[in-house]
Amino acid sequence: MREPFQAVRVSNQVYWVGAIDWGLRDFHGYATERGSTYNAFIILADKVILIDTVKAPFKEEMLSRISSITDPEKIDYIISDHSEMDHTGCLPEVIEMVKPEKVFASVMGVKALSEHFHLDREIVAVKDEEKLSLGTMNLKFFETRMLHWPDSMFTYLVEEELLFSQDAFGMHLATSERFDDEIDDSVLESEARKYFANILLPYASLVTKLLERLGTLHLSIKTIAPDHGPIWRRDVNKILDLYSQWALQRPTKKAVVAYDTMWGSTAKMAAAIGEGLKQGGANPRLMPLRSHNRSEVATEILDAGALLVGSPTLNNNILPTVADVLTYLKGLKPRNLIGGAFGSYGWSPAGVGQVKQMLQEMKIDLAGEPLKVKYVPDSDALEKCFSWGALIAEKLKEICEREP
Ligand code: FEO
Repeated sequence: MREPFQAVRVSNQVYWVGAIDWGLRDFHGYATERGSTYNAFIILADKVILIDTVKAPFKEEMLSRISSITDPEKIDYIISDHSEMDHTGCLPEVIEMVKPEKVFASVMGVKALSEHFHLDREIVAVKDEEKLSLGTMNLKFFETRMLHWPDSMFTYLVEEELLFSQDAFGMHLATSERFDDEIDDSVLESEARKYFANILLPYASLVTKLLERLGTLHLSIKTIAPDHGPIWRRDVNKILDLYSQWALQRPTKKAVVAYDTMWGSTAKMAAAIGEGLKQGGANPRLMPLRSHNRSEVATEILDAGALLVGSPTLNNNILPTVADVLTYLKGLKPRNLIGGAFGSYGWSPAGVGQVKQMLQEMKIDLAGEPLKVKYVPDSDALEKCFSWGALIAEKLKEICEREP
């Protein structure tokens, strides 16, 4: 009987056997408007290998895809490239069912899997650059610690020049298409960018080092198979070059203005600041936080030069939408930004002070004094907002001219 889910051939002896999560809209805080996939792969060599598994509720889909090409009980080895639950959620059950001869993970992966799942079977640790023979084919492992967990590693299938890259080079995108050449370029780039900004940004300097290392290894890579989204086979350099560029976070004249408003005054300030930025030669990107979520803001600042944040004061605090975005951005550790705090207030400007403090905690240099307006901004106040925007545009221009 035909399986309800089918494997997809990736190369001579490699098949995609993952799952498509069409309904996913929130991935630990990252807004995933296009859903996601959890990619797992089977290598049919002299040994049958399963690379990674899927999120627990998708186990049956993965097993069905595996069954469309081989009996799951024929799996000899399972390799776990990354311990996060979207790739290991069903691993304990699959181990129990398949009883593979061996399960491999990085040294830190062994620790993570054992502690996470309290497994009572041995997980074999593979070291950086260790090789594993599959008979006619060979695997090589590369530790990629903190990209983006301590346990993360790449697995390279030597004979097919195929790199299994777990989260790296992935994206949250649910589609029926499995390959980059089947998907519109603009979708690929925008979702890969969003993924980088929301997942890998805190480790951007490690991405640069990883790419340098891949260069010195002279690893010939024909295909990159990440654990989310499409497989790169048309031109792997496209995504490698994008990562190399994004990791630098080179400042541009783009200024992100993220704000929320209580009775419209802070929104008026934001609009006037935007005009000043534009007239000063910057590229303002206004993001009212009632209609832009934290993931969109994170994506926009990836190639920005300034982050200006506005909040009125509510009960001696900033608005919850602003606190949400700043908390999220703080964890992502964006670099090479100048910043500014602004907002209106009634009797206490505490909100603006808190925005300033949070930007400083993010190690963002303030480009100007915080801008506060009491109650509703009049024309003088709006003129000050315009000038504040123009001043920041001037600073951005100087920074961009200094950049190589
Ligand atoms: Fe896709 Fe870090 O898990």
